[in-house]
Amino acid sequence: MSLADRFRVHFTGEHHLYWHLARALGDDIDAGGVTADLVAGWESAPEGAVIQLRLLAGLFREVLTGRADELRPFYPCLGGAADPSGAWAVARPVVERSAARLREALEVAPQTNEVGRSAALLVGLSHAVRASGLHRVRLLEPGASAGLNLLVDRFAFTGSGWSAGPPDSPLVVTGVEAAGFVPEPFEVVARRGCDLSPVDAATDEGALRLRSFVWPFQLERHRRLDAALAIARANPVPVDAAGAADWLAAQLDSAVDEGVLTVVWQSITAQYWPAEEVARVTSVIDAARSRMPLARVAMEARGAGAGRVTDHSADYPVVEVDEVAVARCDFHGPPFTLLG
Ligand SMILES: C[S@@+](CC[C@H](N)C(=O)[O-])C[C@H]1O[C@@H](n2cnc3c(N)ncnc32)[C@H](O)[C@@H]1O
Repeated sequence: MSLADRFRVHFTGEHHLYWHLARALGDDIDAGGVTADLVAGWESAPEGAVIQLRLLAGLFREVLTGRADELRPFYPCLGGAADPSGAWAVARPVVERSAARLREALEVAPQTNEVGRSAALLVGLSHAVRASGLHRVRLLEPGASAGLNLLVDRFAFTGSGWSAGPPDSPLVVTGVEAAGFVPEPFEVVARRGCDLSPVDAATDEGALRLRSFVWPFQLERHRRLDAALAIARANPVPVDAAGAADWLAAQLDSAVDEGVLTVVWQSITAQYWPAEEVARVTSVIDAARSRMPLARVAMEARGAGAGRVTDHSADYPVVEVDEVAVARCDFHGPPFTLLG
């Protein structure tokens, strides 16, 4: 499929801002307009590189940094309510004058850190803590991005007939549902993550990057992200630049206090791992079980982990504790349905 077509077909259904912009950008490529120059050299990029999302995120960063204030009325998360069908006429001159930065934006792979997924960790942690009888927890997360979900104990949650977490938290993850869920108290005594490309949530640059990949009309996700970034600034979480298996092997080699449950947590990352990484992570975790109390909590799409990118339209994620499915959920977390 041509790059112009990939822009045009990426968004279907609702005619929101990106539906309009992506079509107009695709048409502009075919017409030899400013977008054609901008994406020159990227025409044969693999479809999985989603050049269209990189460009839209770059444009969003122009708006978020005040370089394209005329576009703000089209961005609902910034309070805009303008008819998105008029966005391209305003965006075109922005694309032209920001071409150098937008070309750099094509180098930046999409990366989100979705804090709605912390509800999966809460559900899995409660199972693991209950099963082990250990309430003091060391959290380790491979593929953590900015590590926001490692702050799970600082977030509040509301579900069907239950709530959890500090009631005064700036972040309340709502709509978790999970009818019948009983949260278990726990204390996080240590937390650490790794990622191939970690994002530093405590910096303006890191926050900007994360915001720019959340679609501007997904208001609830922006609300959650803003609140989590504020919490992360006050409570920085270390995220090492490393691959999952090597990092986990080193972390699980270090001593842990008696009575502490080590929880290895991951979400929507295994689908990006090569098959050897998937196998090594499992063997490193299994080898550590004889040395310490350990539970593995994963929120991954069914069938993920074989190095393939899951077709989001055909699949849904499952929360597993030590490979037993305990809940199913959406790709961004809520709502959850308990299983079994
Ligand atoms: C879709 S993001 C999910 C981030 C986070 N777990 C969440 O749910 O918000 C996938 C993350 O996995 C990371 N990643 C991909 N392959 C990896 C690997 N082999 N080792 C460590 N991290 C990896 C990417 O850099 C990216 O940050």
